[in-house]
Formats: sequence, structure tokens, C-alpha cells
Amino acid sequence: MVQEPGALGKRQAREDPDMEGNVILIGFMGAGKSTVGKLLARALGHEFVDTDARIEADAGRTIPEIFAAEGEPGFRDLESAALREVLRGGPRVISTGGGVVLRPENREAIRRGGHCVWLAVDPATVWDRVRRETHRPLLRTPDPEGTIRRMLAEREPVYRETAHWCLDTAGRDPESLVREMVDWLHERSA
Ligand code: S3P
Repeated sequence: MVQEPGALGKRQAREDPDMEGNVILIGFMGAGKSTVGKLLARALGHEFVDTDARIEADAGRTIPEIFAAEGEPGFRDLESAALREVLRGGPRVISTGGGVVLRPENREAIRRGGHCVWLAVDPATVWDRVRRETHRPLLRTPDPEGTIRRMLAEREPVYRETAHWCLDTAGRDPESLVREMVDWLHERSA
């Protein structure tokens, strides 16, 4: 049922210039940032961009390849550059990698660069979504479930600090999250 929010979003975007700003989705791996982001972009009539995809396209390598060659610090440098690149221009819906908030300068750029929404997710849901995937180097540990719990606990305060709004995704389908986000954006710019 994305049709309805789509039509609503476009109307609101035209009526209110503030709705034209970037929307930046932050949150842990497996929170649904890309899925929700694509639907939201369609609803608002904005371009959708994923920072991980941008990094891979710019580098001509996959994220695991970048981690293997340059380690996490090298990846974070590329990520910071990609973030700056996608925040320029727009309006866009921007889905970010789960660790983009680790650098204070990125947090600042995100808060200034648009409306930032934290898609919050619990560790069990993350594990359920990522257990069969292999493209996340930070979860290639002997105990990925424990790694998820630890990283999530460490990062939650930083997501909270960065976001203008937190949306709990537990038990929610992407379409209903998008409807709520469109309403929030409208209220925020009213
Ligand atoms: C990371 C999350 C990944 C990707 C990289 C590092 C992180 O993105 O940027 O593997 O530090 O949480 P997703 O959140 O899209 O999985």
C-alpha cells in the first residue's frame, strides 16, 4: 500500500518547501534503512541514495574488499567522503551505513544536512535478518550475535544524539513506517 503515502508525500512536498530537504536514515545494520529509504524516496518524489552503494561505486570495490585492503579506518575515510558528497544537492533520501555516526564530524554533517531519522531495531531482529548474509565484515566474528548486542549497546547513545527523531521498527512493516515518516516530515515543516 505504498500508493497512498506516495501521493500524499508528493502533494506535501510541493506545498511546503521544507519538505524538499534531505532525509537521512541512520541505524544499525539490518534496521531496514535501504528498504524503507527506497519506499520513502518514492513517496516524497526524491532521489534515493545509499552511502554503501556510493562507496562501492566510487571505489570500484566491494565493502569487504575495502575492509580487507585498508581496514576499518580506510573504509571510514571513504564513508565520510561519500556522506559529504551525497549531502550536497538533493533533496534526497539517504540511507547510511550503520557506523557512519561513529565520527563526530559525520554526526554534525548529518544533523545539519537534513531531517535525520533513526530506525531503531532490537538485537534479535538484527540477527534474524543478517545471519544468512556475508557482506558485513564487522559481523565476521566467532560470536556474531554477541557482537551485534555489544555494538548496538555502544552505538545507541550515538544514534540518539544524532537523530532528530527515533522510529521504533519492532513489528512494523516498511509501508507503515513510511506513512509515519511522511506525517512527521509534514509536522516538522509546518
Ligand atoms: C557497517 C554497516 C554496513 C557497512 C559496513 C559497516 C557498520 O552498512 O557500512 O559493513 O559499521 O555498522 P549497513 O548498516 O547498511 O549494513
